[in-house]
Amino acid sequence: MDADRLASALITLEPRAASDPARIRVVHAPGRVNLIGEHTDYNEGFVLPLAIDLGISIALLPTDDQRVTLTLDLTGETDGFDLDRIPPRSGGWIDYVAGTAWAMAAADLPVRGFRGVLASDLPQGAGLSSSAALELASALALSGGEEPATDRMTLARIAQRGENEHVGVACGLMDQFASAMGEDGAALLLDCRTLAHRAVPLPLDEVAIVVTDSGSTRRLDHSAYNERRAQCDAAAAAIARQQPAVRSLRDVTPAMLDAVAARLDPLLERRARHVVEENGRVLETVAALDAGNVATAGRLLSESHASLRDLFEVSSPELDALVEIAEAVPGVLGARLTGAGFGGCTIALVRREAVGRLTGATMETYPARTGLTPRVFEVRPSPGASVVTAARTTLS
Ligand code: GLA
Repeated sequence: MDADRLASALITLEPRAASDPARIRVVHAPGRVNLIGEHTDYNEGFVLPLAIDLGISIALLPTDDQRVTLTLDLTGETDGFDLDRIPPRSGGWIDYVAGTAWAMAAADLPVRGFRGVLASDLPQGAGLSSSAALELASALALSGGEEPATDRMTLARIAQRGENEHVGVACGLMDQFASAMGEDGAALLLDCRTLAHRAVPLPLDEVAIVVTDSGSTRRLDHSAYNERRAQCDAAAAAIARQQPAVRSLRDVTPAMLDAVAARLDPLLERRARHVVEENGRVLETVAALDAGNVATAGRLLSESHASLRDLFEVSSPELDALVEIAEAVPGVLGARLTGAGFGGCTIALVRREAVGRLTGATMETYPARTGLTPRVFEVRPSPGASVVTAARTTLS
């Protein structure tokens, strides 16, 4: 994302920015893919996401009034709101900005108005967390284009609260955490109960992380997502009636689940089994990566997909087709849907020399199977949200 070009676009929209270009700020927040640990975050489990080299940037001029006005660079669409009268959700993208402002104010973080222009190279609705990227970029913009006066984990939780309570999506913490705290060259292991986390470096000279956008937008996403979350809570409550120490699915071991399975509703058992086994797979993947065993990590990714397809039931024919195509390519170590599911993207862990083969096989086979055009690209694990620059004074 070219910060200077975006700052110039801001000057075109807001000529008064030209008189003092040193006041212009540019902030950036990345999207994410999740290597493994799907639908575990809201069950107090483990996740292993990474921030990617695609995201959302905002060039802004901080103002001293209470007005937030934001224009989309791509379409020219403009929306805004007053910080002292944050509007209820409207169903549009501005909700994520307003929700972040609301949650920051609720956490007593200073916020100020701005005039901004937003550019994104993150496909929207593709499951790469354009929402979390928008929230984190907004948080930096609402802080006047400065580092917010809190630590990154707190900021991620504030952004999550905005999405939960203002936008109305009961998401977990993974996406905001990844966008806020990404690290160059590494995935991030997060324990969603204790919030302990650490970087897990990836052997990127040996393997690539290849994302394929299925081209099928996520269907039913918010309602089906919230429904899965409710089913997990119901499963945990049912298990807790027989195992009183259980507070969430995080506390359930495979043996415990086997012991109570006969008395559980079969659908709830499937949901619980996915979460319980997925938590185990995250820790096994981290151990495999730490040991340099990429083949095992790949196998675990593919097992995760099978579980999301058969037990958690959030895959789609398109995502299954992409995973099947990838798994048949020599040098692909494993593949799975990434994010909430119901459409969106897959990721594959691929030996470097096989990236071209995977791209070719996908472009050749997938359109014939689905009638859709895929987009295949490699992503690089990238740093989290940042103030990119105070735009250069040469702009004027
Ligand atoms: C979405 C949510 C995350 C997480 C994933 C599924 O991306 O925003 O919190 O629950 O789905 O793993």
